[in-house]
Amino acid sequence: MKDKCEREIKHIRFSVTDKCNYNCIYCDKEGFISKSEELTVQEITEICRNLAIVLNLDKIKFTGGEPLCRKEIVDIIRNVKDLNLYLDMSMTTNGHFLADKAEELYKAGLNRINISLSSLNPAVYKEITGKDNLNRVLKGIKKAKEVGFNPIKINFVVLKGLNDDELQDMISFTANNELVLQLIELHSRSDSIGKHKDFYDKSHVDLSQITKSLEERAIGVKKRGNMQNRKIIFLPDGGIVEVIHPGHNFCMGCTKLRVGCDGNLFGCLYQAETGKNIREGLQNHNSLSQFKEAVKQVVESREPYY
Ligand code: 5AD
Repeated sequence: MKDKCEREIKHIRFSVTDKCNYNCIYCDKEGFISKSEELTVQEITEICRNLAIVLNLDKIKFTGGEPLCRKEIVDIIRNVKDLNLYLDMSMTTNGHFLADKAEELYKAGLNRINISLSSLNPAVYKEITGKDNLNRVLKGIKKAKEVGFNPIKINFVVLKGLNDDELQDMISFTANNELVLQLIELHSRSDSIGKHKDFYDKSHVDLSQITKSLEERAIGVKKRGNMQNRKIIFLPDGGIVEVIHPGHNFCMGCTKLRVGCDGNLFGCLYQAETGKNIREGLQNHNSLSQFKEAVKQVVESREPYY
């Protein structure tokens, strides 16, 4: 299904809970403040099934809050995998429960993972996340690697005066451990950040200059056409860096649809308020064609860019 800008929807970002055990200072809460109760495991599975069918897609990412705070997370992954509709299932996690959960998640069918890692310095890590848990997360990353997740991506939101001096350390850490580094530009979309414009103003780093200098020493650069035209930069020491730098081009390459943990379906992080709740339709046993109609409305409401 295409939106009015000819962008085909190719993957789903599904929040399974809005609960989180961390309190990251930059958090966008997935653009979303839940208004009602979390979907049940069964509802999540059914929505995933319907979306895969009506949108003819096979790629999904689970998020939160922190998805591993949802106690039925392994069941959710297993149920969705057992639909036999998704080939690529990934998750974004803060890594806190990963050392314990990685193996179960992998066995249940998750194949890729993104782990937020805001600093390699324990004090800075604590300042950004609110938790003194760097070591624990590093253990989680190691475990994810052992278990077989591939690729493992490290999400690094660059924050001025906090972690922007760690770029080279992060590149070396990820290259040495065969991880992919995702350099993420801070965006202002969230109640938490939007209402604290001062934080955004003082912490935002425009990644264009950094990208340019990385490209200058790259041995190759690719574009991920489906993924917001993100650049992938291959460095001579084996490092792989993906840059997530919002802007016009970014939105024009966006092929994602989002589901909030209460069933709100929305087309953009910046458009959560105009989403459509698809839970009620499930509860009313609506037909697949009614479901498709609801999805179509949301897809058609996607703006060219925010
Ligand atoms: N700016 C950029 N990225 C953000 N994330 C969360 N909030 C923001 C923000 N304000 C991303 C980070 C994190 C993931 C869960 O969401 O990449 O790892």
